[in-house]
Amino acid sequence: MEYDVIIIGSGPGGYTGAIRCAQLGLKTAIIEKYPTLGGTCLNVGCIPSKALLDSSEHFYNAAHTFAEHGIKLDHLAVDMPQMIHRKQEVVDQTTKGVAFLMKKNKIDTFYGVGSFVDAHTVKIAKNDGGEETIKGKNIIIGTGSKPMSFPSMPIDKKRVITSTEALTLEQVPKSMVIIGAGVIGAELGSVYARLGTKVSFVEFADSMIPTMDKTMGKELQKAIKKLGASFYFNHKVTKVENTGDEVVVSVDTPDGRGDGPEQITLNADYCLVSVGRKPYTDGLNLEAAGLQTDSRGKIDVDSYLRTSVPHIYAMGDVIRGAMLAHKAEEEGTFIAETIAGQKPHIHYRLIPNVVYTWPEVAAVGYTEEEVKQEGIPYKTGSFPFKALGRARASMDIDGLVKVLAHKETDEILGVHIIGPRAADIIAEAVVAMEFRASAEDISRMSHAHPTYTEAFKEACLAATDNRAINM
Ligand code: FAD
Ligand code: NAI
Repeated sequence: MEYDVIIIGSGPGGYTGAIRCAQLGLKTAIIEKYPTLGGTCLNVGCIPSKALLDSSEHFYNAAHTFAEHGIKLDHLAVDMPQMIHRKQEVVDQTTKGVAFLMKKNKIDTFYGVGSFVDAHTVKIAKNDGGEETIKGKNIIIGTGSKPMSFPSMPIDKKRVITSTEALTLEQVPKSMVIIGAGVIGAELGSVYARLGTKVSFVEFADSMIPTMDKTMGKELQKAIKKLGASFYFNHKVTKVENTGDEVVVSVDTPDGRGDGPEQITLNADYCLVSVGRKPYTDGLNLEAAGLQTDSRGKIDVDSYLRTSVPHIYAMGDVIRGAMLAHKAEEEGTFIAETIAGQKPHIHYRLIPNVVYTWPEVAAVGYTEEEVKQEGIPYKTGSFPFKALGRARASMDIDGLVKVLAHKETDEILGVHIIGPRAADIIAEAVVAMEFRASAEDISRMSHAHPTYTEAFKEACLAATDNRAINM
């Protein structure tokens, strides 16, 4: 069978790209090695983690804020198997939805491991035991990523776990050490801390979510500390051991660095390793197509997302850039349109980044650290949610909006939000920045009252001659 396009991997990059190819009239096949479509995001990533974040947030609010709202509850308890069951139902509905979309768009779906035979031929070792070989004029690699770890923290999937296992625990652990206070650590740490687990973060850097604007990390730490979590920043894990009943994590303290480390040990039911993810290309037999990975395991692509073999493209977590579902989706669409002869465009600087804790963290554009480093003249405007009527009504007063604007032109350079519904508010900032709005442009647009989005307008007013109204 010969296709216009073969896509290997059915994550957000793969399935979105496949649908766009089909819409453009290209005969398309998609290959997925797991029995369900949707990749990391739908099966063990974005969707299940958000389902548990929502459930745990309901529990936390019932336990801690309902009384103040005037709602009394007796015998509140977590039913963990039910929480996990609901999460799985959400995942199943979503992955089935993707399978339906493949059918609807007449995309041939193959379940099995895809590997290159040559630059136009892919062999599928099917999950049902069979084998099939298909040919493609164009091939897109969207094989995603998998969790990273270090030799000092070997994953055994029992007590030393990754995000995948942390999404299926059938009991609320008493304690959990989380190595890495990045996005997964912050989100899954929030889930378990809200359910009553004593969570301890061990982080190599000096703050949570260290790659985001520093203000965000500081504010997020305050919020997660309120859930009872503790933090070991600038600490280095040297050993993680499953002793059967518990896990023992040996950690070098910052004071110990230099001449002879000073060590502490942390004991817990589980150790979640969330120190980043690495690109996944195992079993693809890239060499047969004349391809290689770089020193970090990524597939190198040019600005058209073409590999060194021009009719083979790659996208999503397996290439450079942010490991985000919506970045992979944009790239899937971009490649489909490029193959169809169109001239698409992705504005990488304006891909938003969201952490689904509560308060949520969301950002787009430059961080303050980046504008300083690049010597761009800038000004800032901030506005705290506690000064907003809507936030006081819902008791979501933690956090702020911080706007960075060009000092001379007033163009918005970056927006960093920690607060209620930050994930949704950031869309306004993306639209504004795509149209190169100034802070004054936003401050002159009517924002419905009372809404959380008023904090963005107020932060823009603050950036425009420090004239926030409600501060
Ligand atoms: P993937 O989704 O990883 O899909 C790749 C697919 O390729 C997989 O299904 C894999 O089985 C398949 N595959 C691999 N090799 C082969 C082969 N040889 N043959 C056939 N199939 C193969 N991002 C967000 O934007 N928002 C979030 O809220 C978010 N939450 C996350 C939470 C967690 C816990 C994790 C782990 C990740 C989260 N992410 C989130 C990141 C997001 O999941 C990834 O960025 C996204 O899934 C990448 O999409 P992709 O298409 O590149 O690859
Ligand atoms: P991450 O890169 O966000 O965080 C990893 C953290 O681990 C960093 O803070 C880093 O300093 C720390 N670290 C690294 N090595 C360490 C060590 N040896 N000891 C202690 N700390 C160490 O990676 P994470 O959280 O694993 O997530 C992987 C990817 O998945 C992210 O890049 C993100 O793009 C994606 N993701 C996105 C989500 C979202 O968009 N909401 C949610 C979850 C994951």
